[in-house]
Amino acid sequence: MTVEVLQNELARLEREATGAITQAQDAAVVQTLRNQWLGRKGRLASLLKALPELPPEERPTFGKRANYLKETLSSLLDTKLKELSTQAAGGVSPIDLTLPGRSPWLGRKHPVTLVMDQTRDIFLGMSFSTALGPEIETEFNNFEALNTPADHPARDEQDTFYLEDGRLLRTHTSPVQIRTMLAQRPPVRIICIGRCYRRDAVDASHFPIFHQVEGLYVDEGVNFRDLIGTLELYFRRMFGAETRIRLMPHFFPFTEPSAEVHVTCVICRGRGCRTCKETGWLEIGGCGMVDPEVFKAVRYNSERYTGFAFGWGIERIAMIKYGIEDIRLFYENDLRFLEQF
Ligand code: PHE
Repeated sequence: MTVEVLQNELARLEREATGAITQAQDAAVVQTLRNQWLGRKGRLASLLKALPELPPEERPTFGKRANYLKETLSSLLDTKLKELSTQAAGGVSPIDLTLPGRSPWLGRKHPVTLVMDQTRDIFLGMSFSTALGPEIETEFNNFEALNTPADHPARDEQDTFYLEDGRLLRTHTSPVQIRTMLAQRPPVRIICIGRCYRRDAVDASHFPIFHQVEGLYVDEGVNFRDLIGTLELYFRRMFGAETRIRLMPHFFPFTEPSAEVHVTCVICRGRGCRTCKETGWLEIGGCGMVDPEVFKAVRYNSERYTGFAFGWGIERIAMIKYGIEDIRLFYENDLRFLEQF
């Protein structure tokens, strides 16, 4: 049994049931219909028996649809019953003019959009401007100019979607550093927010399409403390004034020294909980001082200029900020989820 077949069955069931309910003429018929469609041995229940035959990853979606249909039909039946009983009460009009009006549905911004907007605002407030780059990139911009040659082990960590012509879907927003530096002389102070792609298996924290924010600041005399100050300000604005950060030594081919950015756990405020695995800290992303090799690739004079760069996932920030435990919720577009923002 495939999910398409079941979805079609669900749709057919919905059409048939809706038709039958609309035509029902008395309360007894409504009750029969309820048993027939929603009862323990009803048609919806027997359709759900096929659930275990679906591949595990399809089950939740299908289960949700079926439940949703159950609720819809159940409320249709309720409405019908009310309507019939009003009619029975002496032909009083079934239209109740005192009912409150239906308010139109208000759209809301997606949580990922909210975090992108806020991220942009925070960095614009620190005099960064925004830069953009294409999602289809060259190996040069995505890897080589970032000091990551083909045989570099760091490439394994970013399993890449390649196109037939040798180009690729960018695995991070860092190629926008290269594009920006090739196009202009220092000082450079940009952020780039955009979509990235990696051949990751889907789980609660991985999805092959995601978003990152990248930052780059290059000028004379830019130092590591400028980096720390910038990160501190960002995370305090994003997660609250009491948020602290720490930097742990790390490696990226395009920064030296490099660090992993951690913030105090927003759930337990650093005391230790399940979310931060009792450490009090959450790992967020990477940063460091631009490696002279990168400056060489874009023909910047690394004797004269220094710079810092940073980057992290937008979804990760949104998950922490809103307490969302599964990244897949962002892409399912379930209104019950989206309406909460
Ligand atoms: N591009 C890195 C990644 O995707 C993050 C990063 C950006 C690290 C800038 C250092 C500097 O993991």
